[in-house]
Amino acid sequence: MKIDILTVLPKLLESPFADSILKRAIDAGLVEVGIHDIRQYSTDKHHKVDDYSFGGGAGMVMTIQPIHDCMLELQKETVYDEIIYMTPDGERFNQKIANELSMKKNIMILCGHYKGVDQRVREHLVTREISIGDYVLSGGELAAAVVADSLIRLLPGVLNDETSALSDSFQDNLLAPPVYTRPADYNGWKVPEVLTSGNFKLIDDWRFEQSIQRTKERRPDLLED
Ligand code: ADE
Repeated sequence: MKIDILTVLPKLLESPFADSILKRAIDAGLVEVGIHDIRQYSTDKHHKVDDYSFGGGAGMVMTIQPIHDCMLELQKETVYDEIIYMTPDGERFNQKIANELSMKKNIMILCGHYKGVDQRVREHLVTREISIGDYVLSGGELAAAVVADSLIRLLPGVLNDETSALSDSFQDNLLAPPVYTRPADYNGWKVPEVLTSGNFKLIDDWRFEQSIQRTKERRPDLLED
């Protein structure tokens, strides 16, 4: 899979991919992540990437030209399955969308800034708009990193134990059960006995029960789906 991210703040996107699981996935060639500085494509002599909003009002709007030229350059080499614009008024991201996007070969993600991008970018260049939740971030970069992380960890070979992504919360619309590790007794705080019983059928049943109970308590909306 290839993920190309377009941003005016490329530095913001360095660290998420420079550590741990995502770095290992990149180093192993399981995913290619490109961070592209939109400003470098600006034909303006001051490399401007934004301008005042037509009709007035506070806040700058990202202009079409540098975004379009950056996209065209990347599209010379790659055909994208989705061109995603990160925006708080997009479709709300969830595990189902993560699963779906993780099957794609090439994805482009455009990060908005200031008041967002010129509406014509959204109408003519973007294929999908995604929000990571009902709150507003300073820009789309952190949101893009969230989406990229959730896709990359689903790619075959990225997690050591491939089944562990399947047992994540939200797969099957259930929250994950509680987990414990050694010691089995910490100052009298004990691990549920079933987990040290060695009976894997009982352990599976217990985990499933716990998942259902947790989902009922914390996210009953998931069970209605
Ligand atoms: N940009 C700003 N806020 C955002 C959000 N909640 N989701 C996606 N992109 C955003």
